[in-house]
Amino acid sequence: MNFISNFLSSILTPQVSDLQKGNIPQHVGIIMDGNGRWAAKRHLPRIAGHRAGVEVMRQVITTSVEVGIKYLTVFAFSSENWDRPEHEVNFLMDLFVDTLNRELGSLNSNGVNVKLIGSRKKTPDKVLDCFKNAEHITAGNKTMVFNIAINYGSRGEIIEAVKKIGTECKAGQVEVENINEDLFSKYLYTSHCPDPDLIIRTSGEYRMSNFLLWQSAYAELYITKTLWPDFSKKHYLKAIQNYQKRNRRFGKV
Ligand code: FPP
Repeated sequence: MNFISNFLSSILTPQVSDLQKGNIPQHVGIIMDGNGRWAAKRHLPRIAGHRAGVEVMRQVITTSVEVGIKYLTVFAFSSENWDRPEHEVNFLMDLFVDTLNRELGSLNSNGVNVKLIGSRKKTPDKVLDCFKNAEHITAGNKTMVFNIAINYGSRGEIIEAVKKIGTECKAGQVEVENINEDLFSKYLYTSHCPDPDLIIRTSGEYRMSNFLLWQSAYAELYITKTLWPDFSKKHYLKAIQNYQKRNRRFGKV
């Protein structure tokens, strides 16, 4: 019986070697949702869900490098998340700092280039300083860019870009006639990345929640009911396999 179930799970569980080598998404974005519900199901405080979520993020980074993904963007804290209870916000800020400090050596030795994306306005100095250090140390790394979105909101990002372009137009540095999609993209927090190919959202909600709205115009969406702390390597490979079956037409026939 055990033999049969092991055999079945080995053929049903996707492996990295099952992926089509020439069709790996270059850029994956992830809305890591469901930490609170995961904790509530276990009668634990919400922060236990966030703590468990860090381990999953670690596994996703490792798998991304293994698979050959070049850009990974995770939505860690939205510009709307400041309205959560103060103790949860403080916990998350400390978690970002502690996790990044703890994982920096391993990220660096794996060739990962860490980037903070989001508005700097409300983000505490301890988070900004910690990221400044991580960005500096990992700046030359080429294996994968790892964007962590903190205090990120797509609409705010677009407004900031419009203001910068407007200021440069007034100063005569940009001609209105030269504003096009490519130029606009260069004013976004993600100017160092191609657009995402695949957006994964956990916990079964069918919305974008103000994440990479401009950049995701042609991204493939993958929604799973699995809560973020339960999202394993197997789920991630399944999402990539699903992406590989999509017929991407970019509006063409
Ligand atoms: C959403 O679940 C999750 C978050 C707002 C936080 C995600 C953060 C991590 C996994 C830690 C990442 C660490 C670093 C260093 C970037 P939720 O709280 O909205 O869950 P719910 O919808 O079930 O309430």
